[in-house]
Amino acid sequence: KLTVGLVGWRGMVGSVLLQRMQEEGDFDLIEAVYFTTSQAGQAGPDGQPLQSATDLDALKKLDVILTCQGGDYTHSVYGPLRAAGWQGYWIDAASSLRMADDSIIVLDPVNRSVIDAGLQQGIKTFVGGNCTVSLMLMALGGLYEKGMIEWMTSMTYQAASGAGAQNMRELLKQMGALRDAVAPELANPSSAILDIDRKVAAAMRSADFPTDQFGVPLAGSLIPYIDKQLDNRQSKEEWKGHVETNKILGLNAQPIPIDGLCVRIGAMRCHSQAFTIKLKQDVPLDEIHDLLAQHNQWVKVVPNEREASIRDLGPTAVTGTLSVPVGRLRKMNMGPEYLSAFSVGDQLLWGAAEPLRRMLRILLE
Ligand code: HSE
Repeated sequence: KLTVGLVGWRGMVGSVLLQRMQEEGDFDLIEAVYFTTSQAGQAGPDGQPLQSATDLDALKKLDVILTCQGGDYTHSVYGPLRAAGWQGYWIDAASSLRMADDSIIVLDPVNRSVIDAGLQQGIKTFVGGNCTVSLMLMALGGLYEKGMIEWMTSMTYQAASGAGAQNMRELLKQMGALRDAVAPELANPSSAILDIDRKVAAAMRSADFPTDQFGVPLAGSLIPYIDKQLDNRQSKEEWKGHVETNKILGLNAQPIPIDGLCVRIGAMRCHSQAFTIKLKQDVPLDEIHDLLAQHNQWVKVVPNEREASIRDLGPTAVTGTLSVPVGRLRKMNMGPEYLSAFSVGDQLLWGAAEPLRRMLRILLE
């Protein structure tokens, strides 16, 4: 059995990961060792004392390190551990090592061949992709696999969870504060909607509205910027769409142009995306349906009809599941090579935890 060190298992992504590993029986196949950055010596989930996640000697004994601890931890530990000669497999949820030449971004339903080739070449560092990128590829994998896409834009509707657990709490506090600001008016069916709206706007703009995490209101509003600002005026989240997709697909020599605009909305943990896809040629819609649906067992093509779309193609239907519905498929006014699509996926499952546990499974094959 491989000895697998788990770091960052208590956080939000780590907790989802552990739950999925339990559901799939992964723990029966490994020797799990639990690490901590703050509570070494205390009892872990298996009753054994937690080991220090910064103890290089303890880490060096492991065959695999699976970390959801975040980028700062990766920055501080990965380099020294490799420098000390550790040859094990590092599987990471953080973005720090994603674009390194000697790492592979893992999303095996999409890039199993890239992963296998990397393993053969002795690559030992495997990193989960950005959540919007992974969810996009789970939805559109069929078109990418067949090389049908000339370029693509993605306009995102990203959930609070992508910003962190505290941000999810803040979103709910904001929702509550808005409701509280107009509770008497809501209870009275004949109160004037413009009075309600004025009070809501005043609450959102007031100094005591809870915005410590997001910096601005998200509930009742949106935030048209995610992650850092880059010198070229893309946001870092938008930059990832192009570089990570092409790295995942192994297309760095001839990348497919991908760009878009990333927006935070008041959903809890499902990221949605609207795509404009320029196909290399006019492909009939029923063929596109088939290609998309057959690509993997989690994607689900939703017919481009109103009832099916509002029922099956939103965060409420998808949250907490591995299903990745894609719909609103139609040819656009610009011409028959222009395809529109919309997809939804759970940002913590396929967007974060699931590709990591599946990479561990690949190592166990
Ligand atoms: N950067 C993403 C977001 C989450 O802020 O929604 C992690 O990939």
